[in-house]
Amino acid sequence: MFVREKFGPKAHVFVCVNVRDDRTRSCCLRVGGEEVASALKEWVIAENLRDKVWVSRSKCLGFCNSVGATVVVYPQQKWFLQVTRESVPVLKEQIVALIR
Ligand code: FES
Repeated sequence: MFVREKFGPKAHVFVCVNVRDDRTRSCCLRVGGEEVASALKEWVIAENLRDKVWVSRSKCLGFCNSVGATVVVYPQQKWFLQVTRESVPVLKEQIVALIR
């Protein structure tokens, strides 16, 4: 095992892209999770924020719904629910506020 301490970004953004084959339950992939994750990754690269903001795709974060993806930012523990492609600009503003 190898341990690194005090290493990492100011904000690590997890975007749920979970998919369920069972169509009786919602999942973030079907409500735009991949689009949200891709948009955030492109933004981080374009704004040269890679040392401050990491974006990772995740499995289910427990707030499944039929509107938009679930996003959580650590270490701030700030949750964003029902995130759609249209709400990504506001999400970016919120992330910038978290890393100031
Ligand atoms: S499938 Fe995304 S929060 Fe559950």
